[in-house]
Amino acid sequence: MTPLGTPVLANIIDDLVARGWSVQPHFLANSLTLQLATECRARHAAGELLPAAIGRGDGKLINESIRSDSILWLEPGQSAACDEYLAAIDALRLTLNRELFLGLEDLESHFAVYAPGGFYQRHLDRFRDDDRRTVTVVVYLNDPDWCEADGGQLRMYLPEGERDILPEGGTLVCFMSDRIPHEVLPARRQRLALTGWIRRRI
Ligand code: OGA
Ligand code: MN
Repeated sequence: MTPLGTPVLANIIDDLVARGWSVQPHFLANSLTLQLATECRARHAAGELLPAAIGRGDGKLINESIRSDSILWLEPGQSAACDEYLAAIDALRLTLNRELFLGLEDLESHFAVYAPGGFYQRHLDRFRDDDRRTVTVVVYLNDPDWCEADGGQLRMYLPEGERDILPEGGTLVCFMSDRIPHEVLPARRQRLALTGWIRRRI
């Protein structure tokens, strides 16, 4: 244990300061990843996930040529597994505030399912009319055998070039929402994730 609480959180802080992004394989325990994946699949099968929209308020539209995932926003108390995930990200939020004085206030987070062929074109995670989204956090819920041939990589566009991340179950990717353009390359099998945004005060 470091003064930051856990070495993982300390590593994330160091990465965000140095380069604006961090990747942490095995951020979630296998058992929690499995529970979250099972819940995600069950809710998807029950029709609870809906086609994702782009933008917010009046500018909100569904455009399957830009993104083709289906989502369900998380509510605290919906399951023990989701509450455990929310607590893990909240620990990250508190550490970010303590170390970087970001004034982060809350987390919004959703399950996302991409059907085979699904993708999300290059974008930034910050809305034109709402700049509260500060740190993006994505945790993948796929089986650990996801391979290059399955596609679905998260492609980050960095100053030094492109960087592709495989969406392996339990891996956490986080980055500064206003800084890193990114996309989801077409997946060849169903792709599951929990995507969240840690938001600052207005
Ligand atoms: C998003 C997004 C990345 C991913 O939902 O905004 O960019 O790897 N997701 O799922
Ligand atoms: Mn995004």
